[in-house]
Amino acid sequence: VLKPCDFPQIKNGRLHNEERYRPYFPVPVGKRFHYLCNSGFVTASRRYWGFIHCTARGWRPAVPCVRQCVFHKVENGESPYRQIPYSQGESAKVKCYPGYSLPNGQDTVTCTENGWSPQLKCIRVSKECSIPLLSPHLFVNPRNDKYKIFHYLDFRLQCGHFHLYLYNISTVDKVGPCDQPPELLNGEVKGTKKEEYSHDDVVEYVCNPRYLLKGPNKIQCVDGKWTTLPICVEEKRTCGDIPELEHGSVHFSIPPYNHGESVEFTCLETFTMIGSGSVSCINGRWTQLPKCVATDQLEKCKAPKVTGVNGIQPNKKEFHHNVSMDYKCRGKKEYKHSTCINGRWDPEPTCREEESCPPPPQIPNAQVMQTTVKYQDGEKVSILCQDNYRTQDTEEMVCRDGRWQSLPRCIGSTGKCGPPPPIDNGDITSFPLPIYAPSSSVEYQCKYLYQLQGNKKITCRNGEWSEPPKCLHPCVISEEIMERHNITLRWIENQKLYIKSGDYAEFQCKSGYRQTNTRPPLRTLCIDGHIDFPSCSIYMINSKDE
Ligand SMILES: *[C@@H]1O[C@H](CO)[C@@H](O)[C@H](O)[C@H]1NC(C)=O
Ligand SMILES: *[C@@H]1O[C@H](CO)[C@@H](O)[C@H](O)[C@H]1NC(C)=O
Ligand SMILES: *[C@@H]1O[C@H](CO)[C@@H](O)[C@H](O)[C@H]1NC(C)=O
Repeated sequence: VLKPCDFPQIKNGRLHNEERYRPYFPVPVGKRFHYLCNSGFVTASRRYWGFIHCTARGWRPAVPCVRQCVFHKVENGESPYRQIPYSQGESAKVKCYPGYSLPNGQDTVTCTENGWSPQLKCIRVSKECSIPLLSPHLFVNPRNDKYKIFHYLDFRLQCGHFHLYLYNISTVDKVGPCDQPPELLNGEVKGTKKEEYSHDDVVEYVCNPRYLLKGPNKIQCVDGKWTTLPICVEEKRTCGDIPELEHGSVHFSIPPYNHGESVEFTCLETFTMIGSGSVSCINGRWTQLPKCVATDQLEKCKAPKVTGVNGIQPNKKEFHHNVSMDYKCRGKKEYKHSTCINGRWDPEPTCREEESCPPPPQIPNAQVMQTTVKYQDGEKVSILCQDNYRTQDTEEMVCRDGRWQSLPRCIGSTGKCGPPPPIDNGDITSFPLPIYAPSSSVEYQCKYLYQLQGNKKITCRNGEWSEPPKCLHPCVISEEIMERHNITLRWIENQKLYIKSGDYAEFQCKSGYRQTNTRPPLRTLCIDGHIDFPSCSIYMINSKDE
């Protein structure tokens, strides 16, 4: 019988009960033995023990114990959230902090028999520069891996669908740190400020209650300069009464409820809150109210069955409310987590890669947004149009699936005007158009007997019409009124019963009558449909004024 296998020399491991089995060697094909790996080493299937088989070509596996490397703390680089095991021969990508790199500019480390090679340590890069870490939408010319000191780079920045503009960053020996982030009027930096800010650092701003943030809420330090600051504009809309929460209560506060203010809800003792207890007034509306669910009726979650999701820990079929689970996506080493919230996983377990969006695009005719910050799925950026422009449809764009969606537009004033404003008892003398070019003008005309007041010609300037004229009412002189006041019109040949505003009417007392008072006079003015009629009464011989 062929006995091809001598006592196995297992590097970094040993046979189980080595001394007991040693006398039986060599052994024939088909024999198998139990073996163990030394600490820091595992079998191909990542266990500490396994079987070694005698085959016609010798022992299999040929390398029974392989090194296990743990990817954890990266010096001067991004460390993963938890320890990730790698086996000998596998490589991991390392992200060094700006200004640091692995030796020789490498970006991967490999698990070798002696541990990571090179070590998990990013070192300060020397005099030469690498391409600064900027957006993937940036094309660099000339494209080298390294640049010598005082070498200039031209960047072409593709900004959304709108613009392609040249951005000239003169990259010299190193990218500089930034001063403290600028103060924001009616707002502040979110979180605590750092003592020093280096290239690529991002700072987020929030506006004070009652103020709405316009522009990118995050600014970035780019070679010693901060990108454009957002602004806080006053939001005058307030929210209505605080909504009522079933099985819950609110810490009451006094209206008005301004934009940005929050109220806190709590649930009754035997109820559990689902959602956030802090409800805010945003743009005149309260954000989503939480729910109070009877604690004994909280729903359980089922282990998720989503394509690509596996390695669920703990390995259970059902999970109680507020219990977390970890899962792995196919082909991934790191775990993701979700928590069971009343029958639903939060966040929804998924293996879909969440793409971040490039910096938001510059919207034509909006305030300049020089931003380099990438945004995550669901994040929003609100824009502010330049003077004489206003937003159409929406003010916010949203980052979804790696693209900016629902892009706002700033319209108006191209300087054009819409149709001229209508006026009472008058109209324009030309056919109205939907749009008028800048500095075009139209003329108004009043109805018969109505008197035009103001400028009859109006002009379109900066998208707005100058003030239109008014048509003043004529005065009506009826026989009844004259009869009541004991007067008649003075001039027989001029028996006008309608007088234009601004014209005089002349009366006289009926025969046998005299003016009672000198005011209003017999010659009196028509003002926009109103006339003060003089009055006369019967002439008395014994009246005291005679
Ligand atoms: C970029 O900067 C260099 C050096 O200041 C200058 O000569 C060149 O004209 C600039 N290019 C553009 C497109 O502004
Ligand atoms: C949920 O779990 C967290 C931490 O595990 C704990 O602080 C909290 O009180 C729990 N909430 C409920 C409603 O059980
Ligand atoms: C018109 O004359 C009558 C008779 O004298 C008099 O009673 C009346 O007050 C006069 N009307 C007015 C408005 O003065």
